[in-house]
Amino acid sequence: MSGNQNQADYWSSESGLKWIWFEKELDLVFNAVDEALIRKSLPQTGESVLDIGCGTGATTRTFSKYISPGGQSRAVDISPPMIDQAKAHVHEHSVKPTYHLADVQSDPIPGAPFDLVISRFGAMFFADSTAAFANVREHMKSDGRMVLAAWAKAQGNPWFEAPKDGAVNRMGPMDHSDPNAPGPLGFQNIEHVVGVLRQSGFVDVSGETTDVILAHPGPLERVAALASNIGPAARILKKYNGTKADVEAIKNYVFERFRGFETEGGVRIPARLNFFFARNE
Ligand SMILES: C[S@@+](CC[C@H](N)C(=O)[O-])C[C@H]1O[C@@H](n2cnc3c(N)ncnc32)[C@H](O)[C@@H]1O
Repeated sequence: MSGNQNQADYWSSESGLKWIWFEKELDLVFNAVDEALIRKSLPQTGESVLDIGCGTGATTRTFSKYISPGGQSRAVDISPPMIDQAKAHVHEHSVKPTYHLADVQSDPIPGAPFDLVISRFGAMFFADSTAAFANVREHMKSDGRMVLAAWAKAQGNPWFEAPKDGAVNRMGPMDHSDPNAPGPLGFQNIEHVVGVLRQSGFVDVSGETTDVILAHPGPLERVAALASNIGPAARILKKYNGTKADVEAIKNYVFERFRGFETEGGVRIPARLNFFFARNE
């Protein structure tokens, strides 16, 4: 047992399924994260790429464009509904992604060895991150590279902080846990993650914080609804059996906090991310 059944359950529950219900809007908002991943990992035509914790596969599909023609695009996720939704997408590039239901920590991953492993917010949830990255590394070519995108700390990340504050004000505190515990903020501490990746056998490991702008055409109300339904708000709503009225209250709070991010060209929210780089020797 890998200890990740709780993640399979969470990401198949109502809270996780919101990533499917809000898929189009989330992919718009997180497009800036994909762009940063592309800039930092430089996928090449013909390469073999693996997306870990792929969700509904937007990042997988974006990378397929860069490795076409001739490359190979694989993606894995532990949540059956996420994988089903990913498979339902039409592929647009000559490299057609293949999606697999798998626990990154312990399962064999088809299509190895890979030149490049990437993840957008899908690598912070493993019960045993050292074991998970050792498993990933075993599926990589020698000299293969890995680039991961994760959230930096909540402070200074309004996308995270505003819905969390709104939910805490309305319902009560989050569980206090180890800041490095599996979860959306589990990779906020660069030194910790660099240590884990080295322990997993990777070399040339580093991490850096990068600021991006999360953009959405608006209106602001839609963005507030989106932020209030996923992330920390979703977790607090789940903990306290939140109602529709609670979601509405959080949304109104987030709306006020996000007012300053409204521009003529849509809603633009500054965000702070941690990127991690590692190489298989
Ligand atoms: C925050 S979502 C990100 C999804 C996608 N990368 C995106 O940006 O839209 C995290 C994803 O990691 C997946 N995940 C969590 N633990 C996993 C594990 N042990 N193995 C594979 N996938 C996992 C979840 O099922 C979920 O789809």
